[in-house]
Amino acid sequence: MKHSLSPEAIAQNLATRLIGQRIIYYPSVTSTNELAKVEARRGAVEGTVIVAEEQTAGKGRLKRAWLSPRGSLAFSVILYPSLEHLPSLIMVASLAVAHGIKAVTGLESGVKWPNDVLLNGKKVCGILVESEVRGEAVDYAVIGIGINVNLRVSDFPEILPAATSLSQELGGEVSLLGLVIRLLVEIERLYLDLLGEGSIYEAWRDSLVTLGREVYVVSGKAKYSGIAESVARDGSLLVRRSDGSLSQIVAGDVTLHHQTK
Ligand code: BTN
Repeated sequence: MKHSLSPEAIAQNLATRLIGQRIIYYPSVTSTNELAKVEARRGAVEGTVIVAEEQTAGKGRLKRAWLSPRGSLAFSVILYPSLEHLPSLIMVASLAVAHGIKAVTGLESGVKWPNDVLLNGKKVCGILVESEVRGEAVDYAVIGIGINVNLRVSDFPEILPAATSLSQELGGEVSLLGLVIRLLVEIERLYLDLLGEGSIYEAWRDSLVTLGREVYVVSGKAKYSGIAESVARDGSLLVRRSDGSLSQIVAGDVTLHHQTK
């Protein structure tokens, strides 16, 4: 198939030292995150990548399903960060995607808090970070990234009208191979930067399209609207409510409905 992935070609063209030291490839798989968690529990080397041409049971945030047909990109990366660095992985992942998309297609994307990547206000990428933590120790973390690459979104009514794809925005197909290689390079650069105490928080904050916008928050039984005022260093969102109070929202806890106008 045109623009399909080849694990050998990924490995041969990847100039990284951590991310992608081991690449596990599947033509079709349930969920790369699920397999990554199994591999991590078996002690897979840090930077192991699980990549698939298609997922049959892709998982999204908040227990949603993630559509991953052929033509999309789905992969997961196994990391063993400290507890201190764990909240920053969503920043590493979303910034890496925004940078990778720009480098490969020239398209300018934005990050919708906490970690959706949007093109022209529509979702092109979803990110699911999962981890197992025991006390102060992180057993493992998995960054799962799904990108609508060469998809005609109108073929998938379940994700219309909120989704788009790279090919749709670009008006032509994109190399899955070139894209995954660039993304792995960007993940490595940002992750090593984070470990080296460089801050990626400011860059992530500046890439957010959510700040200054009205948001509608559904958190458990509470429902309210407010203005997304800022983000804290741990990635949580600060929402100014109409009564003047400030609510701190932790990624993963809530559904936010962003006003588009
Ligand atoms: C979301 O937007 O809700 C997150 C979607 C995350 C999808 C990716 S695709 C690769 C990895 N494997 C999964 O099952 N999910 C993530």
